[in-house]
Amino acid sequence: MYRLKRSDIEGWNLSIRTTLLPKDTNYHGTIFGGVILSLIDIAGAIEARRYCDQRVVTVSMNEVVFKEPVFVGDLISFYTRIIKIGRTSITVDVFVIATREAQSRKRLPVTEATVTYVAIDENRDPSPIVVRQNEDDPPALALESEKN
Ligand SMILES: CC(C)(COP(=O)(O)OP(=O)(O)OC[C@H]1O[C@@H](n2cnc3c(N)ncnc32)[C@H](O)[C@@H]1OP(=O)(O)O)[C@@H](O)C(=O)NCCC(=O)NCCS
Repeated sequence: MYRLKRSDIEGWNLSIRTTLLPKDTNYHGTIFGGVILSLIDIAGAIEARRYCDQRVVTVSMNEVVFKEPVFVGDLISFYTRIIKIGRTSITVDVFVIATREAQSRKRLPVTEATVTYVAIDENRDPSPIVVRQNEDDPPALALESEKN
């Protein structure tokens, strides 16, 4: 089992941190994968919206492999980073970590995903990305956009 190091998440933004409840479990008692998928989608959209103020919709999510189960009470962190800005699309990597209080706060890599969002206009047609240029942009994001 791989135990995470701080360097594994350097340069990533923490977009969501939450804990899950018994209502989120499957009949084995572990967290239902669909709940994690939904949070991945939201975390990626939060990252995309750091770059642009436009309405975005999810066009694709790559294969998602769950490497560790998630238990009720685990602290689940969704780290995100932009990997590509296209003409109308933004692609985000999402990295999911569970912190398990019951096992000395062990940090476990649960899964990762690549999600692509498309900016849309009032007719729901793809619309060119307009990169947000405001003073609240975190420095890490400014660096990322310079790379693209
Ligand atoms: C997203 C949507 C607006 C795209 O419309 P479209 O006419 O297919 O768009 P285009 O072919 O012009 O592609 C638009 C962008 O999406 C990208 N794209 C399209 N399909 C893709 C795919 N399968 N994977 C990754 N990117 C994709 C294109 O590369 C393009 O990016 P770019 O402009 O940065 O180069 C349309 O497919 C849609 O409304 N889908 C439903 C979205 C939704 O409701 N999501 C929630 C699901 S419940």
